[in-house]
Amino acid sequence: MHFTLNMPGLLDMGKYFLSLLAKPGALVMDLTAGNGHDTLFLAQLAGREGQVFSFDIQNQAISNTRKLLSVYKDIAPVELFLAGHEYFDKLLPQNVKGCISAAVFNLGYLPGSNKEIVTHAPTTLQALNKLADWLRPDGGIVVHIYMGHPEGALEGEAVIAWAKGLAWNSWSVASYEVVNKPKNREVLLFIVKKQPIHE
Ligand SMILES: C[S@@+](CC[C@H](N)C(=O)[O-])C[C@H]1O[C@@H](n2cnc3c(N)ncnc32)[C@H](O)[C@@H]1O
Repeated sequence: MHFTLNMPGLLDMGKYFLSLLAKPGALVMDLTAGNGHDTLFLAQLAGREGQVFSFDIQNQAISNTRKLLSVYKDIAPVELFLAGHEYFDKLLPQNVKGCISAAVFNLGYLPGSNKEIVTHAPTTLQALNKLADWLRPDGGIVVHIYMGHPEGALEGEAVIAWAKGLAWNSWSVASYEVVNKPKNREVLLFIVKKQPIHE
């Protein structure tokens, strides 16, 4: 007898990790809104009592996201920022600092658009570093890394090295990858801020 198992893809696993982090009422962030799929998924998880903050540097991405969200009801309100995610700390209300349950990055270029406009390691790392103070304990970050284009390879190596260097007593970091994929390596990182231990 022959069984065919559908290996979970990185998008499936990313959604699974986000669903562990974002419960109804959660404050959540999409750092790369793109066509809005992750923003929508977060808004569904957080529900009407929650709040989503989403960022993108392209007008096209912000308008695609707004259009996608417009046909859904019973989702969290979404605040869209036409801005680089590296500036998020200047744009979010300061009273949500330390209260973010989930943040997602889907790196690279906007599908179906200009492939020259991509995320870059320095700004991605700036945003990742800033998130440490904005996540709540047990909050976390999901990062989709696509290494099949030149900037993506550089960025991916930098982000993976950064994640491996996070202190064990403050962070749990896992990765998911289909390791025999012949080209266009993709890696999913799941990064969780540990609860402080009070002795
Ligand atoms: C792979 S797409 C995101 C896909 C999206 N999450 C979705 O569900 O459709 C990457 C996006 O990152 C955006 N981007 C690039 N640099 C950025 C930055 N510094 N801050 C925020 N977004 C950025 C691009 O404009 C592009 O839309």
